[in-house]
Formats: sequence, C-alpha cells, structure tokens
Amino acid sequence: MKFFLDTANIEEIKRINGLGLVDGVTTNPTIIAREGRDFETVIKEICALVEGPVSAEVISLETDGMVNEAREIAQWADNIVVKIPMTEAGLAAVHILNKVGIKTNVTLIFSVAQGLMAAKAGATYISPFVGRLDDIGVSGINLVVELRQVLDKYGLKSEIIAASIRNIEHVEATALAGSHIATIPGSLFPKLWTHPLTDNGIAQFMMDWAEFSK
Ligand code: G3P
Repeated sequence: MKFFLDTANIEEIKRINGLGLVDGVTTNPTIIAREGRDFETVIKEICALVEGPVSAEVISLETDGMVNEAREIAQWADNIVVKIPMTEAGLAAVHILNKVGIKTNVTLIFSVAQGLMAAKAGATYISPFVGRLDDIGVSGINLVVELRQVLDKYGLKSEIIAASIRNIEHVEATALAGSHIATIPGSLFPKLWTHPLTDNGIAQFMMDWAEFSK
C-alpha cells in the first residue's frame, strides 16, 4: 500500500519525505486554509518536494468551472492531480478531464455506488472517507473492502485512496482491505512507527549496557 500525506504543511512533508515514506500528497480546501498561505504557492512548493502525485482541489461546483480550474491547476506541475467533488457536475468534469489526460481524484465518496460512478467516469483515484463514515456508525473499512472488490471484478483502473484516516487501526485495516493508497494526516504519521514496548526495550538495553560497562 502506498502512503500519501494528507497535509499542506511543508515541514510535515519534509520530515516524512526524509524517511522515504511519502508516495504522494493530498490536500483539500480545509487543509490549505489551515496553512494560511496562497493556494498556488503552497501546491507548487509541495510538487517540487514530492515526486509522486499531489492532489489540489477545485472550488467550483459547476462542470465548466471545475474544468477551467482543473486546466489551470494542472499547469502548475507535472505531478498534479485535480481533486473533484463527487457530484453529477463533478462526474461530467472527470469525464472531460480524463479525455484530455488530466488526472483526477474524486473526493467525498461514501458508497460503493459513488465509487463505481467515479471509476466509470474515468477517475484516476477515488477517495472514500473512512473516518467520516465511522462517525455516523457505518464501517468505512467495509466500504474500502467492497470498492476494491468491485474495481477488481470489473477491471476498472481507478485506484482507491483511503481518506479521512484518523488512527493506526484505520491504516492497518485499509492495508488489509486492499486499498491501493492511504492518505494519512501529518500528525498521525509518527505514531505509525512508534510503540511503547519499543521505547521500553531501548531504555532497558541502555540501562543494562550502562551497568555492564561501569
Ligand atoms: O482526506 C480527507 C481528509 O482530509 C478528511 O479527513 O478527518 O476531516 O474527515 P477528516
């Protein structure tokens, strides 16, 4: 499973990228707003730091507006993916953008039907929101399992980006569910490589070594 970073924070991206763990980056309007910096500037900086795909989301809700924004954003860097909301207008935009070779990530997917629509329209990536489904008492992981089954069954080319990932269990379960990618918040990432027993083990080794070498 590939790891994308779900952040627009340059320091977080540099830190995790330094470990060779960043296969791509996803952003959304909330994530960009959190940084308080110019959208285009931030996205271009991220694209220069990361080799893999970088998702930048359109703001328009109409097809023409989405397509125009997408054409503009796609020129910012070679590794841009344009994020499009899962609506009828969004599907029409994805269909048009697919034909002109602009990669898309259809976001805010909450059902197998929506994922299937986006994949059929030509989305490069489809993003089910795992945590937000869990919030309403529906299994987000089960959606990832079922989306993977449907994509494989019909040979659809879209890749799943498990999004709205909130904890280590989500990362592990999406990997087991066969998600192609999980997009992980910068604050969660360090928790993936830590374990209290690892820390205790190191402390014990250091104590024993200090005692031995007195
Ligand atoms: O990738 C989507 C993500 O940013 C949404 O996460 O935690 O706001 O549901 P969350």
